[in-house]
Amino acid sequence: MSRQFDRLREGYQYCRSVTDFRPQVGLVLGSGLGNYARNMDVVCEIPYNEIPGFPISTVEGHDGRFLFGHIGGVPAVVMKGRVHFYEGYTMEEVVMPVRLMKILGIETLFLTNAAGGINRSFQAGDFMMLTDHISSFVPSPLVGENVEEFGTRFPDMTHIYDEELQRLIRDTAREEQIEVKEGVYLQTSGPNFESPAEIRMFATLGADAVGMSTACEAMAARHAGIKVCAISCISNMACGITGAELSHVEVQETADRRAGEFERLVTSVISRLAKHE
Ligand code: HPA
Repeated sequence: MSRQFDRLREGYQYCRSVTDFRPQVGLVLGSGLGNYARNMDVVCEIPYNEIPGFPISTVEGHDGRFLFGHIGGVPAVVMKGRVHFYEGYTMEEVVMPVRLMKILGIETLFLTNAAGGINRSFQAGDFMMLTDHISSFVPSPLVGENVEEFGTRFPDMTHIYDEELQRLIRDTAREEQIEVKEGVYLQTSGPNFESPAEIRMFATLGADAVGMSTACEAMAARHAGIKVCAISCISNMACGITGAELSHVEVQETADRRAGEFERLVTSVISRLAKHE
């Protein structure tokens, strides 16, 4: 058994000692979605700091815990707060929660985040569904001993974001009359925002939005055979595009302003998963 799997097994056993809830979907809440619990009936909560071997987030306002419950009738586990590479964890640690959710039973992972808009047709407050990503600027979460229990050493990444789920998001957005843009997300290490020259480079490379999470989690999930979808809230235009200086306060404010609509979109997509499968 791999060392990583062994560590995860301890976390799994702890979670199972608290609840026998079997989630079908995992949802990772990005900035602004901290109050998402109001959209679900929570049956159990497990703070990350109670889980043996688990990384604990240090970012202000990220109070880390798993919430178990139903979203529109679909059994789900929600990550309120995630850990980021810029906090000093290894990528392997950053994706531990995703892997634990796999062992707990999820088949689908829904990732959300706040991101800077690079595509000039975007504006702050837009939503962007990820169609693909660029993760070459951060280490792969799959570096190190392969966790054979999850998947192969050299996993294919042709369809990171599941085509069917993308269709479901498009259809849901149309029916709910919520505009959702589409594009390629690029992950940086953070914690600093980018320079104008970096954003010009990322635009040239084909990125539509930039952020400090998500791609690594999507890759770990794909490695483990989980179907993945992701939506960004464009909380600001990326550095150099409007000339304005960037701040975490602006990111938080836009994400908070769009939270209600974002919650409605996410909840509606997840509710349809039951009918979909
Ligand atoms: N850059 C990187 N990460 C981000 C940004 C940004 O402009 N906005 C929100 N997360």
